[in-house]
Amino acid sequence: MNNLKVERDGRVVTVRLHRPHALNALSSELLAELLGVLGPLDHDPDVGCVVVTGSEKVFAAGADIKEMAAKSAVDMLSEDYFAAWEDFADLRIPKIAAVNGYALGGGCELAMMCDLVVAGESALFGQPEIKLGVIPGIGGTQRLTRLVGRAKAMDLVLTGRTLDAREAERCGLVSRVVPDDRVLAEALGAAATVASYGRTAVRAARECVDRALETGLRDGIRFERRVFHALFATDGQKEGMAAFLEKRTPRFHGS
Ligand code: HXC
Repeated sequence: MNNLKVERDGRVVTVRLHRPHALNALSSELLAELLGVLGPLDHDPDVGCVVVTGSEKVFAAGADIKEMAAKSAVDMLSEDYFAAWEDFADLRIPKIAAVNGYALGGGCELAMMCDLVVAGESALFGQPEIKLGVIPGIGGTQRLTRLVGRAKAMDLVLTGRTLDAREAERCGLVSRVVPDDRVLAEALGAAATVASYGRTAVRAARECVDRALETGLRDGIRFERRVFHALFATDGQKEGMAAFLEKRTPRFHGS
């Protein structure tokens, strides 16, 4: 692998974006490597959560401008450029973004595709594509608007300005802000917690939360209730409730 460093600790896998010369710009090769690592993990019952991180200076400075610059509209259409990023978003394993430094353009969009975003106090988020004569292309106009609302999304997408971590947290883009040197530890702690729970319930929970962004309230509540019912077929529900009644810690064993 040329663009990633991967480590595993128990049920948590950490994927570090590593293209320092290009500030972790999200090239097609990087994406292929990311999907190559995460695709099999999605089916691995022994892995319960993934942390995606970058370096101290940069999470990711966006899609790779050098790779795209010379392409024609026909190239973009025929390759359906960026379509494979939805494969990342569609992975069912929970994903936590641990963000230090810049998360710009595709970097911000990658963070938004994760389920939790833990950011350092100095992190900067933004969708600066307008400065390049284009617009966000990996879901930025859609996910950002759903997460932060139209007023803030328009501000970011039309001006290209950056948000610091505190503003990003206030407007719903970031889950937790911590001191810069605590970001990875905080993300790994959250990942270990998520990974310790029942695998089916965790996947069901994230699917239901995301469904809220896609559907009306009535349909969403019915969807949630049906998923809740179905969880009574799992070992996780049996173990979780038995452990509560027996006043002991549950042992989900990934179920
Ligand atoms: C390719 C990039 C890059 C990128 C930085 N680099 N960002 N290469 N794609 N997105 C490269 C630079 O060309 C440079 O390489 C090296 O990384 C260091 O970058 P500098 O600019 O010298 O670093 P610095 O002065 O610290 O500035 C950091 C920065 C700036 C503020 C993050 O790099 C920046 O503004 N980058 C672009 C951010 C951006 O516009 N992102 C959106 C991309 S478009 P050399 O070889 O010169 O040393 C996108 C979706 C587009 O994400 C959808 C369109 C369809």
